Amino acid sequence: MDCQQIIDLGKEHVMHTYARLPMALVEGSGSWVWDSEGNKYLDFVTGLAVTSLGHSHPEIVAVIREQAAKMLHSSNLYWIPNQVKLAEMLTANSFADKAFFCNSGAEANEGAIKLARKYAKEHYGAHKYKIVSLKNSFHGRTLAALAATGQPKYHKGFEPLPPGFAYVEMDNIEELNAVVDENTAAVFVEPIQGEGGVNPVSPEFMQKIKELCDRNQALLVLDEVQCGLGRTGRLFAHEWLDVKPDIMTLAKALGNGVPIGAVLATDKVAASFRPGDHASTFGGNHLSTAVACKVLEIMTAPGFLSEVEAKGKYFQSKLQDLAVKHGFEGRVRGLGLMVGLPVGEKGPDIVNNCCEQGLLINCVGGTTLRFLPPLTVSKEEIDQALEILDKAFKL
Ligand SMILES: Cc1ncc(COP(=O)(O)O)c(C=O)c1O
Repeated sequence: MDCQQIIDLGKEHVMHTYARLPMALVEGSGSWVWDSEGNKYLDFVTGLAVTSLGHSHPEIVAVIREQAAKMLHSSNLYWIPNQVKLAEMLTANSFADKAFFCNSGAEANEGAIKLARKYAKEHYGAHKYKIVSLKNSFHGRTLAALAATGQPKYHKGFEPLPPGFAYVEMDNIEELNAVVDENTAAVFVEPIQGEGGVNPVSPEFMQKIKELCDRNQALLVLDEVQCGLGRTGRLFAHEWLDVKPDIMTLAKALGNGVPIGAVLATDKVAASFRPGDHASTFGGNHLSTAVACKVLEIMTAPGFLSEVEAKGKYFQSKLQDLAVKHGFEGRVRGLGLMVGLPVGEKGPDIVNNCCEQGLLINCVGGTTLRFLPPLTVSKEEIDQALEILDKAFKL
């Protein structure tokens, strides 16, 4: 099928939920992808922070082959060796003691909402069910994750949403004080808002949230679905913020493209989930957990994360130079290789121009360019992207 045939067939048979670019990607290797017409692109989108180790990473390919030939799935009716190993690796590298596995970010947040409510109800009573999140946040598209998402445009048309959700403006301590109270089960925070425009939470605001959680016996839940797993140059973004959550959710990069999500929690909190409380047919199956173990092994190898940090600093400072050169008022935001640049209304045109020049980037909120290159990107590839951006910024 050529590109037009793919598009025509897609329009006829695929639900129209995405505003897609008129192209189909069919192959990838490292930081590069090819479309159905044979055009080559430098991939600074990585499937939205998913293929963090690049496309067709040889070690990931080998694990998939080996595991597929052995066993893909057996069900959580039985123990799954790779799942146990992955839980051990994730807890050894984080605040957490226990893990639950699912298939996506939204599903991980649904699990976290359920766990937080069950814990709050068991320890403090039926009144304690409110989930507080930040305005402009993004926690997923299933109904409770959507209710936790602090962007009314995503709620529209799907009301009534599940009750018991409230929102606080970033950095508004007065509002935070007013909303987090004795009825609050948990506060959900992305350490760096992704879909909201690459907005890092300041250490001061995070400390204030933690303080209010402690005072009101509410749990702190960090959504690291997008910013976690090496993206910022630390395994988890909250390591920059000197804060310990009670629950953390992961997905995206955990399987480098094989769907997997996770809910991590302390023993005390995790104890509120008992058999029958929560489940997922595919969650943590043999294949996805084999891959995720390999992803974590690669990311935690000596030098990997410090290199991400160094490449992030290099890219951010060069991008800031370009922003100044082209007269953009906004500053580069983000940490490591999760980078945003506000460019105003020109955003979508810059994205299209970059695509024509062979660089994939995307634009959030219509005005902020978002860069999510593979963590394995080379300095030369960063320079190539900067050259293309320099031309695109002339628009
Ligand atoms: C921070 C955050 N949480 C949750 C989600 C939802 O993840 P998924 O699309 O895998 O359901 C996303 C997706 O972009 C996200 O960025």
